Amino acid sequence: MKHEICKIVDIPQTGSLIAPFFGREVHVWRCGERIRAAANACLHFGGPLDCKDGAFVCQWHGAKFSLESGERLEGPAPKGSRLMFLSTHIEDGALNYVWGE
Ligand code: FES
Repeated sequence: MKHEICKIVDIPQTGSLIAPFFGREVHVWRCGERIRAAANACLHFGGPLDCKDGAFVCQWHGAKFSLESGERLEGPAPKGSRLMFLSTHIEDGALNYVWGE
């Protein structure tokens, strides 16, 4: 399956774009030359994440996650947990979620 998440031109140079995704949300951001997408859900109790000060920070209890790897940096999310990245593919100026292709 393939599902468009957003247009590449809409992704900011810093920070992230929050895009709707099948009734949920995903953060989309630039990480060096790469474009990454991850569910807007903390690995503690699923709280929403803010992209600020070079990391993702949970609004509920302050867990912090790396922009590069998605790994938990600090806070109550389990040690070794990692944000839920989406499998993506860029085509015709758009970032697409792909599964099983
Ligand atoms: S839900 Fe994110 S730190 Fe608790």
